[in-house]
Amino acid sequence: MFDVIEIEKALYSYIPDGAVYEKKLTQSMQYSLEAGGKRIRPLLTLEFAKLCGAEPQKALPFACAVEMIHTYSLIHDDLPCMDNDDMRRGKPSNHKVFGEDTALLAGDALQSLAFETMTLDSTVNSVGAEVACKCVNILSNFCGTLGMVGGQVIDLEYENKKASLDIITEMDKKKTGGLIKAACMMGCVVGNAGKAEIKAAERYAENIGLAFQIVDDILDVVSTEQELGKPIGSDVENNKSNYVTELGIEECKKLVDKLTNEAIESLSVFNGDSSALSELALKLASRKK
Ligand code: IPE
Ligand code: IPE
Ligand code: MG
Ligand code: MG
Ligand code: MG
Repeated sequence: MFDVIEIEKALYSYIPDGAVYEKKLTQSMQYSLEAGGKRIRPLLTLEFAKLCGAEPQKALPFACAVEMIHTYSLIHDDLPCMDNDDMRRGKPSNHKVFGEDTALLAGDALQSLAFETMTLDSTVNSVGAEVACKCVNILSNFCGTLGMVGGQVIDLEYENKKASLDIITEMDKKKTGGLIKAACMMGCVVGNAGKAEIKAAERYAENIGLAFQIVDDILDVVSTEQELGKPIGSDVENNKSNYVTELGIEECKKLVDKLTNEAIESLSVFNGDSSALSELALKLASRKK
């Protein structure tokens, strides 16, 4: 497994130095990026790149880019117009410290920074224009209307309204599965993987992505704010429909195990040693935060 410190060092190196008027903006971007987090998505990019035979260093800008998009999604997700949550990653949410206006703009700027990072001369010189362009296409696709943002729209649409399991599945696959899928696929692309490998990575990501959101929904009920670093009971408070409200915790745990096993099975397509990715899937299924 890769060292999270290495990922964070690279991640922080991309934060721009704000001039006088932008200081508050860059401080706010830095605040959320540096607040911690599990860094699961960048880890996935690096592990898939390694599995496909690439020098992990080459995948770092893409690993950082997906973490930037994820961090932006969390800043916006906590805003009063969305989940209205006051804690994130063990600290007051971005808008609580910098105000809603700056939090909104910090999310916007993190999104731009992600795409800038993937297209910097240093990135393109390292992986080639074709790989960089493919990664831009993947990440933009899975963070947008058909991915994370689309899933967030479904999430908001079904507040105070009962959603069927099919709708919940579609919502989770998009709002959470989207970025996880992009993370895995970009790693494969950096490793010049073939179609079969990319398909297998997609299957792995789809399964752990859905399992990840189900565990998140379980933890919202059974964990504590101190352990989780974000408020618990947020979903009940916002009257959300999710797997836990529809199936109950015990059924959800069984489903998480099933999805995790399916994810691990999909790794058999790869010739290299995929044990780190199997372990990661298992670790995520039993995570406590
Ligand atoms: C939280 O994601 C939001 C969801 C998609 C469930 P993470 O649980 O990966 O959050 P961090 O990055 O560790 O803070
Ligand atoms: C968020 O789902 C998914 C995102 C795209 C941010 P949640 O709203 O359940 O995430 P948390 O629990 O606030 O981290
Ligand atoms: Mg939400
Ligand atoms: Mg939320
Ligand atoms: Mg949640």
